[in-house]
Amino acid sequence: MCGIVGYVGHQVALDVVLGGLRRLEYRGYDSAGVALPSAGDLLVERKAGALANLEARLDEIGREGFVSTSGIGHTRWATHGPPTDRNAHPHRSSDGKVAVVHNGIIENFMELRAELEARGIWAESDTDTETAAHLVAIAYAEGETAGDLPATVRAVARRLAGAFTLVVTHADDPDRIVAARRNSPLVLGIGDGETFLASDVAAFIEYTRSAVELGQDQVVTITRDGYEVTDFHGEPVTASPFEVTWDLAAAEKGGHDYFMLKEIEEQPTAIADTLRGHLVDGRIVLDEQRLTDQDLRDVDKVFVVACGTAYHSGLLAKYAIEHWTRIPVEIELASEFRYRDPVLDRSTLVVAISQSGETADTLEALRHAKDQKARVLAICNTNGAQIPRESDAVIYTHAGPEIGVAATKTFTAQVAANYLVGLALAQARGTKYPDEVVREYEQLEAIPAAVAEVLESLGEARALGQELAPSKAVLFLGRHVGYPVALEGALKLKELAYMHAEAFAAGELKHGPIALIEDGLPVVVVMPSPKGRAVLHSKLLSNIQEIKARGARTVVLAETGDETVRPFADHLFELPAVPTLLQPLVATIPLQVIAAEIARARGYDVDKPRNLAKSVTVE
Ligand code: F6R
Repeated sequence: MCGIVGYVGHQVALDVVLGGLRRLEYRGYDSAGVALPSAGDLLVERKAGALANLEARLDEIGREGFVSTSGIGHTRWATHGPPTDRNAHPHRSSDGKVAVVHNGIIENFMELRAELEARGIWAESDTDTETAAHLVAIAYAEGETAGDLPATVRAVARRLAGAFTLVVTHADDPDRIVAARRNSPLVLGIGDGETFLASDVAAFIEYTRSAVELGQDQVVTITRDGYEVTDFHGEPVTASPFEVTWDLAAAEKGGHDYFMLKEIEEQPTAIADTLRGHLVDGRIVLDEQRLTDQDLRDVDKVFVVACGTAYHSGLLAKYAIEHWTRIPVEIELASEFRYRDPVLDRSTLVVAISQSGETADTLEALRHAKDQKARVLAICNTNGAQIPRESDAVIYTHAGPEIGVAATKTFTAQVAANYLVGLALAQARGTKYPDEVVREYEQLEAIPAAVAEVLESLGEARALGQELAPSKAVLFLGRHVGYPVALEGALKLKELAYMHAEAFAAGELKHGPIALIEDGLPVVVVMPSPKGRAVLHSKLLSNIQEIKARGARTVVLAETGDETVRPFADHLFELPAVPTLLQPLVATIPLQVIAAEIARARGYDVDKPRNLAKSVTVE
């Protein structure tokens, strides 16, 4: 949540900072702003709304004055205070010398604000961030840290409670920028005579792929010649450099109208890249294995924790892991798990799934699990993010950057990674013979081709999306692995098209939801394969007839050649035949496309749905 950029180098900082913000806009788009030192002063511009509003404002006032080669910028997802010009970052100190951008929540800001008011300093905005700007100005102007920006930022960071990445520029120290990080992401980009700071490498990938990850409770000072990292008390810290493995093209739309549409199409590659390298000499291997085979053998219970779409992928993990390993699996929303007293011990494996690796609830659920000695395995799409850093083992989903706020390719990549966890456990515990593990893996490896086949025949899904756009609501039904697919289809529709959408386990229909069925109501049904569990297929076939008889407009996803459903389907999407557990990887695709098309037909920006942000770093 919130995107942050800092730059010190040899280019016009305004251009670099705005370019970075453009690539981080998926993190928040309530308002945007920049601050650049200029001749002993700071130039600060900020605007409510999308980044385009800030750019229009800069065009209006003229950009000629913005010649500084250092600067900071911010794109906001509002927490404290509505998204107005006044609450947009950067926030300035009352002496006008300090500007601060911030991602996170300063939990003790009320106390700090009261302290400032007692000194006669009144806040201009409703934000928690502004207090940090005043505190920095005071500590830089007087006392032990006077005139020393890194020491000042360390002193202020020590006083803040909560989650924050704070980036500070000072008018009197224009050639360096100082940032502090606790519980919110921050990475450095190391260029030739230029150094970058950002919430995500996407902001600087145009200039450098050399990156450095910052740890918890660290302060970094960047200059054009490099960087220095310390802890909050000034002790030097060795930071870990890494190379970004994708390039600028991956972070751009590549001819598509929306990132989301590009990302839907990237799913075959995302799944293939996630699987690649995990079968070595006939054995499943994880990415960062800090768990021994014995640890995996000792696992007698699995808890999966995640939020939103990642949670839906976790529901699928339950089906696969229990089926392959006979270990009981519980799946829980991270936000519920973290405040409960779940029964865990050192033989419990907690699988924490998170695209961003930053989600506050998932991170806290992980910590809650570790406090009880459980082992944690992370599934994450972001190299070096906090969730994998704090886990005992990691499987990275190699889906590449996902800019569209709605998760698409990272969902299918997560499902593939979850299945790798299941196979790794089955292998360690011997519940599957080695050749069976290899066979399951090979079936997974065949999925990208099946997904590519689905993608080729989506014209009909697009047309249907346009037709369904005026609907008031859409229901989704599924059984077994089709149920999480239905949940995911409904979530995509809610978040993109702002349409009422509900998913039900089809068996629950008669326990209440059937009362919702009325003439013309679209109901999407995910049919299992007739060749898989025949009983499931026949039950769903009855369900379709029941809703059809009550006037529903049925949209059915079924395996190619499943003629039994045709008479009851107003719209039929044929899916390639794949093993039952893998069907979600193909069945989800048309639902993503239908949701995107409905949103487009309604005139919404599918990459930036209202009120949402890509990574939810606050509760
Ligand atoms: C929905 C969506 C969200 C995320 C959820 C978890 O399209 O993207 O529901 O899945 O916020 O985010 P991560 O995976 O980053 O923990």
